[in-house]
Amino acid sequence: MKNYNIAVVPGDGIGNEIVPEGIKVLEAVAKKHNFSITTESFDWGAGYYLKNKKFLPEDGLEVLKKFDAIYFGSVGLPEVDDTLPAKDYTFKVRTNFEQYVNFRPVRTYPGVQRPLRTEKHIDFVIIRENTEGEFVQVGSQYLPDSENGMGVDTSIFTRKGIERIAHYAFKLALKRRKKVTHITKSNTLINSLTYWDRIIKEVAQQYPEVAHDQMYIDNSTANFVLKPEIFDVVLTTNLFGDILSDLGGAVMGSLGLGGSGNINPEKDFPSMFEPIHGSAPDIAGQNIANPYGQIWSGALMLEHLGEVKAADAIMQAIDRSTKRGVLTVDLGGKSSTVDVANAVIQNL
Ligand code: NAI
Ligand code: MG
Repeated sequence: MKNYNIAVVPGDGIGNEIVPEGIKVLEAVAKKHNFSITTESFDWGAGYYLKNKKFLPEDGLEVLKKFDAIYFGSVGLPEVDDTLPAKDYTFKVRTNFEQYVNFRPVRTYPGVQRPLRTEKHIDFVIIRENTEGEFVQVGSQYLPDSENGMGVDTSIFTRKGIERIAHYAFKLALKRRKKVTHITKSNTLINSLTYWDRIIKEVAQQYPEVAHDQMYIDNSTANFVLKPEIFDVVLTTNLFGDILSDLGGAVMGSLGLGGSGNINPEKDFPSMFEPIHGSAPDIAGQNIANPYGQIWSGALMLEHLGEVKAADAIMQAIDRSTKRGVLTVDLGGKSSTVDVANAVIQNL
């Protein structure tokens, strides 16, 4: 029987509530599909930082590297400097493990009320460049306390970085409705994003079967709300993708519904799967957090590992659960975090 070794990093806040429920679902689906998962849990994150002055141990990445995949919640606590979680954990894993694809699907959940009036089915994937762009954290502050103080952050867009994410997006489109919309703002960011456009257009020529258009970020936020059904694969930069994926979550009905994968397509390193949202300290510890996005992230992990049938089974069980009204407070329901996971398991 095939076994997968999964590193589990619940992180902080609601991560500690939704990740264990997600694992329960993974274990249940594995049993039905003839494979097993072995998990090892690590208490890294902002809580760990309060005791150890770091988000993960010195050899943390070496430890993670040995696993087949990482199942992650989210990191961040109100009492910890909020510039640290991304820099010291999330970006560290994403960049060191060349998880240059941030795969963030958006779709309609049956039985979930959406904020949009449209009844149209929504099903698209945000492909967010995950290792460079606006989030490289190259920059400095100069005399920040003086009246001449200044702060600079530099965006970095490389040919290699753009080519590989563009190829991923176009290949994905070939398996879907064959359309890539790339998000830009090259009318004003005339160096970095004209380069982004140029390389994507070069790559697009290698995929004549895929329709390709470009859209400015400001217009695309409007279209996410007004015409979300026009999108298939949305190819975007790191910052724009961060913003658009929360909007994607909102379009689905709640941030808690979004699952994601930080993927190293070459499989040289483990990939990391996490919900799109953060640690939600405002609702932590109450067993009310919505775990659907965390559970969906588990399905994306199984798909990446090659267990496609098991991944599909999770998605169908999610749909049966929402359709039957198993909804958390953020969706207008009364179900707890644990209720949702139990319903999904029952519906497998
Ligand atoms: P957030 O996503 O944690 O929460 C935003 C709002 O959505 C809150 O009102 C929260 O209650 C709600 N929400 C989020 N997930 C939910 C769920 N599963 N069920 C029901 N409601 C949910 O974003 P926020 O408040 O901006 O950040 C909180 C902390 O999380 C910060 O420390 C931030 O740095 C961190 N963060 C970490 C991320 C990661 O580890 N990848 C990503 C985003 C934020
Ligand atoms: Mg975000």
